[in-house]
Amino acid sequence: MQGPGRLTEKWNDLKDSVQGSQAWSSIFRPGSIFRKGYNDSPRNRSYVIMNSVLYHLHPVKVKRHAVKVSYTLCLGGLSFFLFILLTVTGIFLMFFYRPTAAQAWDDIYALQTSVTFGLLVRNMHRWAAHLMVLSVFLHMARVFYHGAYKAPREFNWVIGVILLTLTLLLSFTGYLLPWDQLALWAVTVGTNMMGYTPVLGNQVRFVLLGGAEIGTDTLLRWYVLHVLFFPFITVIFMAIHFWRVRKDGGISGPL
Ligand code: HEM
Repeated sequence: MQGPGRLTEKWNDLKDSVQGSQAWSSIFRPGSIFRKGYNDSPRNRSYVIMNSVLYHLHPVKVKRHAVKVSYTLCLGGLSFFLFILLTVTGIFLMFFYRPTAAQAWDDIYALQTSVTFGLLVRNMHRWAAHLMVLSVFLHMARVFYHGAYKAPREFNWVIGVILLTLTLLLSFTGYLLPWDQLALWAVTVGTNMMGYTPVLGNQVRFVLLGGAEIGTDTLLRWYVLHVLFFPFITVIFMAIHFWRVRKDGGISGPL
């Protein structure tokens, strides 16, 4: 055989040997359209959905009202989007920030004046944080207005309350990090208020401050809570929240 026919044959041989290799079949699971000899059967179609992380996140059926933006106002989705934006911009900020009393404020100042896009990213992080508090609150109001906290979604409402608390804690711990006058006094007032906790007031205040008064130990403590502990817990609760939305029968609908 000559010309294009020979070329096609060579191409098919190459495709067969790559797709038949052990390395290839260890990556693509049975039923994948990339596997050797894939045929368009109903069984293989369902395999394609079940074996793909992205496809299987989508429900098999969606109620018509649930995809209407006017029903949910996409406020839960917006809260999630803002959380992702905060994570990405937060990682950028971490490259230029050291959580010590001597360096924190100078680092923030340098970030704004000498780092390319520093001021923009810092403001994106700050605005997204304010917006997330607002969107989570509005999302909760929307859920309440639609009575979506009723059975079978009571548990997801409780998960939601935990998410709201975590959002507020993330916001508050981030507030101290610029180490400016506003931050110092906000945290002084906040921790003094927590000092009035019945019985354990002084202990609670001591743990939160990492000492008797606000200082570099407080900054390190709140930094770790802000960049690691609270985001980690939030991701876990968000996963449970989304999973329950699906398991509770999708988005609630008009009665
Ligand atoms: C970080 C915060 C949160 C995120 C990212 C989030 C995300 C979501 C998303 C994406 C949905 C799907 C429908 C929609 O977009 O409205 C949803 C539904 C729901 N959320 Fe949230 N949520 C958060 C906080 C809350 C809070 C504070 C509450 C209540 C206290 C709550 C209770 C619920 C309930 C009950 C549903 C089911 C609603 C229905 O079936 O109509 N969530 N959430």
